[in-house]
Amino acid sequence: MPKLTVTEITNADVEAVADLWARCGLTRPWNDPHTDIAFARAAPSATILVGRADGAIAASAMVGHDGHRGTVYYVCVDPRRQGSGLGREIMAAAEDWLRGQGVWKLNLMVRTDNTKVIDFYTSVGYDVEERVNMAKWLDPAKKPA
Ligand SMILES: CC(C)(COP(=O)(O)OP(=O)(O)OC[C@H]1O[C@@H](n2cnc3c(N)ncnc32)[C@H](O)[C@@H]1OP(=O)(O)O)[C@@H](O)C(=O)NCCC(=O)NCCS
Repeated sequence: MPKLTVTEITNADVEAVADLWARCGLTRPWNDPHTDIAFARAAPSATILVGRADGAIAASAMVGHDGHRGTVYYVCVDPRRQGSGLGREIMAAAEDWLRGQGVWKLNLMVRTDNTKVIDFYTSVGYDVEERVNMAKWLDPAKKPA
């Protein structure tokens, strides 16, 4: 029996989702949560899913695709509710959203030293595929010092 009711984010959810990301340790000085939420919401092939349990926001995930593969960012569960299956449920909802968009593979990134999160993704069906992740700041002004 699912514990989460998952919907796409609404304007009324934005502050609570930004607060959830902060409480889950996901915000970084170079990633303003309000900018990231607005940018994802404006994209035609992305959204932010919000999971509610017992009337309160308990989980969220940013999900989208680039025309080839799907990905997720900001996957999180309220620290008070972690370890009770909600992470598995929000990931299942992200996967369903991508399937609905016709996407058949999801790639995601985790820092190599974040073994807890690697163990979580392994538990919900993800395999480690050895790749080198490369990146370039297209706007050098946004690159952290
Ligand atoms: C990662 C996170 C989303 C997991 O959510 P959760 O609700 O605690 O996870 P669940 O209870 O659904 O667990 C699902 C499975 O993952 C496993 N798992 C979850 N956290 C784990 C951990 N820290 N270590 C090992 N396994 C873990 C569970 O044992 C479970 O496996 P099982 O069903 O085979 O027993 C949550 O801990 C979180 O929000 N962390 C902070 C934010 C974060 O780091 N997000 C990831 C960004 S890349």
